[in-house]
Amino acid sequence: MTAAQVKLSNVSKTFQAGTPPQPLHALGPIDLELSRGEFFAVVGPSGCGKSTLLEVIAGLTPATEGAVLFEGRPIAGEAPDGMGVVFQEDASFAWLTVAENVAFGLRRTNLDREERAARVSNVLSLVGLSDFATSYPAQLSGGMRQRVCIARTLVMEPRLILLDEPFGALDQQTRLLMGDELLRMWRQTGATVFLITHALDEATMLADRIGVMSARPGRLTDVVETRWPRDRDSRIIEHSEFGAITARLWKTLREESLKTIGRARESGGPLR
Ligand SMILES: Nc1ncnc2c1ncn2[C@@H]1O[C@H](COP(=O)(O)OP(=O)(O)O)[C@@H](O)[C@H]1O
Ligand SMILES: [Mg+2]
Repeated sequence: MTAAQVKLSNVSKTFQAGTPPQPLHALGPIDLELSRGEFFAVVGPSGCGKSTLLEVIAGLTPATEGAVLFEGRPIAGEAPDGMGVVFQEDASFAWLTVAENVAFGLRRTNLDREERAARVSNVLSLVGLSDFATSYPAQLSGGMRQRVCIARTLVMEPRLILLDEPFGALDQQTRLLMGDELLRMWRQTGATVFLITHALDEATMLADRIGVMSARPGRLTDVVETRWPRDRDSRIIEHSEFGAITARLWKTLREESLKTIGRARESGGPLR
């Protein structure tokens, strides 16, 4: 199938925010197509609508205008089968072991016990947590807890994985290593990855294509192709093109971020 796996046509989102409610144009219009199996990253100034874009694709919030298709079918208000979302917050359950956390999503499937156990054990080995199956989240580092959350999504075998700043709370070295792991999982599962990040080097290192968003209402002002080989890891930061790509992202983003800061100054509000 050559058709796009995800297709956004003229998508906009306007919230009703504040008291009395005022329309707040958060996103769009956006046109975007994701091909099956690609790694697409999104960068953009704070508050430009990145999370809103992810939520619209995931069916967590409806678009106000335009159409979102996933594998040819319209997204209608709920996360369809075949998609998995990972958020920044550590969303693991403190009272469940690592294996129980990962098995949690499978409770509504009709897989039998053995199949569930096999899936959980495969995914734990994929994210490097086999030795921690019976540990509780509180006994793990931040990076490991985030891997539990990723494993919980992967166990459902999604064809599209959406991640909203999943490594935002981790230190730089852990972030690079988690990036390596994400690349490995991406290759092994064959899933499409849609990653939101505020770290330009992370986007450059990980993605096949990077969408740069404008200040709110977020639109795609640039889409950069990295042309990296599929088999890559964090050592790609040594590549001669790495700096040029990151610089191009920053050139576009700097102007947009300055607009956001200028707007906050004018209104005396916080930098959102
Ligand atoms: N549920 C909501 N109701 C009202 N306004 C919202 C809601 N969600 C997000 N917004 C607003 O939409 C804009 C974009 O938010 P968001 O998508 O979270 O930005 P980002 O993820 O790029 O930081 C912000 O101004 C935010 O305050
Ligand atoms: Mg966000």
